Amino acid sequence: MTERTNPWAAEKYQDEFNFVSDYGRDVVRLLNPQRDEKILDLGCGTGQLTAEIAKSGAFVTGIDIDSNMLRTARRNYPQLHFLRANGHNFQVQYKMDAIFSNAALQWMTRPSEVIKCVALALKSDGRFVAEMGGHGNIQIIKDALKKAMQEEGITINNRSWPWFFPTPEIYGDLLKKHSFIYNEVSCFERPTRLESGTEGLRRWLEMFAVSILAKVPVDRVETVIKKVETQTRDELFHNGYWYADYVRLRFIAIRTTSP
Ligand code: BEZ
Repeated sequence: MTERTNPWAAEKYQDEFNFVSDYGRDVVRLLNPQRDEKILDLGCGTGQLTAEIAKSGAFVTGIDIDSNMLRTARRNYPQLHFLRANGHNFQVQYKMDAIFSNAALQWMTRPSEVIKCVALALKSDGRFVAEMGGHGNIQIIKDALKKAMQEEGITINNRSWPWFFPTPEIYGDLLKKHSFIYNEVSCFERPTRLESGTEGLRRWLEMFAVSILAKVPVDRVETVIKKVETQTRDELFHNGYWYADYVRLRFIAIRTTSP
């Protein structure tokens, strides 16, 4: 799924965060895959949406940088094709009709490099259909983490975050620079219910904010997590469940001329 220094706990990811692929089915509908099309799933994770795309009869390949994710994807769907590749510098053996990505592009923090690879991998008129974290995504969680860490003497600046949450304008401009016609389909708030009841936010942090929490001395991590929970409870905890303050950016971009 992503470029990050810590390997993913893939089984846990697929068991506890299956909302990622559940919501992603809407993005597959937007992709509208057709029989015999060649499609790449960029940042395929544990492969649920690669399999969903394959149901159309398209030839789909899932790529991901994380070996644990790929091992689980291959175990889940031995009939499908998965390859290890970095979203910032991948190449394909044949040109694709479409490139799809769900909840992965926000981990690819050098978007120009990603979009260049996508453009080179697509046929002329090929489509790039994706959903990613948009501007303002998980802002309440980020603010609380930053404050809790500052109280522990750890400074967090803009470069500390492992994510890129662009505005539609910023991502649109990058796509246009790489010869795409960009159609922002929507940018919207989607408060997302986390599983595991009262443990939900803690589990989310332990899965997705690993590289940030790694800056905290081990014996202070619990304190930081508790502070984040306390600070966000009024806004993010309702009726026994935590809700992550997700903002989604969805787009369809069509590759026009050769890049
Ligand atoms: C997202 O899907 O927007 C996301 C997931 C984990 C961490 C940050 C963002």
